[in-house]
Amino acid sequence: MSAAAPPTAEPTVPETLLLGQIIDFTADPFSTPPQEAARHLSRGAILLRGGKIVEIGPAARMVEAHRTARRVDYGAALLLPGFVDAHAHYPQTGIIASWGKRLIDWLEGYTFPEESRFGDALYAATIAGRYLDLAIANGTTTIASFCTSHPESVTAFFQAAQARGMAVAGGKVAMDRNAPKALRDTPQRAYDESKALLKRWHRQGRARYAITPRFSPTSTPEQLEAMGALWAEHPDCPMQTHLSEQVEEIAWVASLFPDDEDYLATYERFGLIGPGALFGHAIHLKARERARLAESGSAVVHCPTSNTFIGSGVFDAMGLAHQRIPVGLATDTGGGSSFSMLRTMGAAYEISQLNGAVLHPAQLLWLATEGSARAMRMEAEVGTLAPGSAADVIALDLASTPAIAQRAARAQDIWEALFPTMMMGDDRAIKGVWIGGVSRR
Ligand code: GUN
Ligand code: ZN
Repeated sequence: MSAAAPPTAEPTVPETLLLGQIIDFTADPFSTPPQEAARHLSRGAILLRGGKIVEIGPAARMVEAHRTARRVDYGAALLLPGFVDAHAHYPQTGIIASWGKRLIDWLEGYTFPEESRFGDALYAATIAGRYLDLAIANGTTTIASFCTSHPESVTAFFQAAQARGMAVAGGKVAMDRNAPKALRDTPQRAYDESKALLKRWHRQGRARYAITPRFSPTSTPEQLEAMGALWAEHPDCPMQTHLSEQVEEIAWVASLFPDDEDYLATYERFGLIGPGALFGHAIHLKARERARLAESGSAVVHCPTSNTFIGSGVFDAMGLAHQRIPVGLATDTGGGSSFSMLRTMGAAYEISQLNGAVLHPAQLLWLATEGSARAMRMEAEVGTLAPGSAADVIALDLASTPAIAQRAARAQDIWEALFPTMMMGDDRAIKGVWIGGVSRR
């Protein structure tokens, strides 16, 4: 007779239990009082299996129920969904923090010369890897990035994201005027190259292809029309561009498109608004534009460190969110001056103060996670801790420097404990990063 099987056989599916404090949103803190929009577990656990979040709950019960799971204990650190950066330009990594210019001369003086290098596949791969490693070090696990007009830049981005298991959106920038020859394409080439890249990458693994006309000044009406046609054929793709960032830019758009009543109309005319549209910046909006953004289900993306760095203006986060326009949050690397979504939340707070509205830490955190994910229509996969979501989870140290620690020590609740890290924290606060259930930091 053979021996009986041992009574407590090990499970065949490896499970991981992350332990720490947890904040978990139950509602949108712009439509529910912020304090009531989330639950806080002072000692909680998240069960990961097969690259997904399976269960979340109080630590004692979870440990008892999942005794064989591998445990990773982050102590008093706060477990959150990985940050979602809804607007970045990975090719601008090397020129971040370049001095002294505003949007149009910054593009001409710094951005376009750097982007001209991305026809070189090896250079593109080097920068894509460097950028994503910096993002991960800062707790960002999902990004919507512009690439350059070179298809090589798109391939490099998706390959680098795939190697790190990340859910990203990205796309070839379409631009056929007002740019150096090395960056210009044509309406037909932009359509053909975008379509080929879309077919290769959209929904391959965790990738989403984003149709990416740079902005109205660098596209002819014919090119915007071609991008609108491509989006109509693939409405499941995101569409990303820029809108009303600086007053000089808006005047330029008015001179290039004299028949359109405002900036948004230059996109609207070609079908480039609607669910899945991501309009970066959206600062100087007219009432008609705000109404059309709301009616059409288009999203806007706030890029606060960029808005101060290149002197763009004051975004109305509270007003737009209350108008039920989906709002995402983003670094806008490298017009933005930081890779950190913590620094970005701090800057969003400061800009909103200038606008006379005090954003609650719950609203800031929501913008950096679920808000950005909703803007990208990816909230079923990223940006929350809901069971079934990808296991993209970070552990945030709420006492990562002496200055932060001494302030957080006086906190009366979790929001007061978190806020100093939003205002003063950086990559030193990121103690753990899990992407698709794999530890990456
Ligand atoms: N508008 C058009 N292109 C860009 C860009 O690369 N960065 C920013 N901040 N604004 C833009
Ligand atoms: Zn941008």
